[in-house]
Amino acid sequence: MQTQLIQIIRDKIRAHGPQPFAWFIQQALYHPAHGYYSSGRARIGRDGDYFTNVSVGPLFGRLLAAQFAQMWKRLGKIDNFILVEEGAHDGQFARDVLEAARRDAPDFFADLRYRIIEPFRVWQDRQRQTLGDFQEKVEWPNELAPFTGVHFSNELLDAMPINFRNKLVDLASDQFVFVDSPAEQITNQSQLDWIDKVAANLQRGFVLIIDYGFARNEFREVVQARAQHRHLDSPFEQIGDADITAHINWTDIAERAEAKGLRVAGFTDQHHFLTGIISDLVAPDSPRALQTLLHPEMLGRVFQVLLLNKDVDLAPPLAGFKFARDAQSLLNR
Ligand SMILES: C[S@@+](CC[C@H](N)C(=O)[O-])C[C@H]1O[C@@H](n2cnc3c(N)ncnc32)[C@H](O)[C@@H]1O
Repeated sequence: MQTQLIQIIRDKIRAHGPQPFAWFIQQALYHPAHGYYSSGRARIGRDGDYFTNVSVGPLFGRLLAAQFAQMWKRLGKIDNFILVEEGAHDGQFARDVLEAARRDAPDFFADLRYRIIEPFRVWQDRQRQTLGDFQEKVEWPNELAPFTGVHFSNELLDAMPINFRNKLVDLASDQFVFVDSPAEQITNQSQLDWIDKVAANLQRGFVLIIDYGFARNEFREVVQARAQHRHLDSPFEQIGDADITAHINWTDIAERAEAKGLRVAGFTDQHHFLTGIISDLVAPDSPRALQTLLHPEMLGRVFQVLLLNKDVDLAPPLAGFKFARDAQSLLNR
């Protein structure tokens, strides 16, 4: 139990009154010393708190490597293709992609540079260990910088601190509780700020976002806390030892991206996305992993994939979007 962290949060509320939920999540996940992610406690995979596409095995990275190689071709096989990843955890996805590219697409591999944006030293150190074989390929700048290529993220946005529109976090004796907020709040400012930054730094190429959420018409506020593969009853349980995630509003992200000069080039679920890649680019080699990633009752329908782009001709569509329906209508636009 993270007693110091809990005390820090209580002290703030006692001194300053109810706080936005985004502030609470920021402490629980990213407090510099005690947060679930920032402390290095976060564990993903069988022995951890939850599974992601990456923890299913190397197949996910292999399929994505094929999609990135096709993007590189669409950009005219440029010799400084930068793949930016944020939320890279222990570097396993980066390694899966680099190994697949080296083996299956050596020309692409030669032109590829991998750039990880990682705010926490503890995770950067683990990424460097995982990526020891690829030292000359990978760089860790302090922040996003201008690039041509692709920005990739898997389950990054759902881990950003969000607000509830009408709730604040308060204390009832020693227990954390939600109370009504006197004013409506912007729920996903952190995600909107993030897309602003990505749009400002993408010179030419793509942004590929994999995550879970809703288009605007179906949107509802869903927050989940998870520890040791259990859904907790409330984000106020196991503070600092549990992951907290929120379903995202895809339409908000897409509209903000368009307002900042990106184009929406595709929106589909993971099932259709990966099926397109398999049908055009890769013959998968591990049937169990494939089933987990694709099956509609496993990960296939949980995740959606949004493709944004700047200054690239996208006819015909990329492999991952060949079976996608019209993005604008799916996003209720
Ligand atoms: C749910 S985990 C996903 C990890 C990995 N992508 C995967 O799929 O296994 C979310 C990750 O995003 C990171 N993260 C959250 N906000 C971030 C930000 N603004 N910049 C970089 N990483 C961030 C967290 O530290 C955490 O490692």
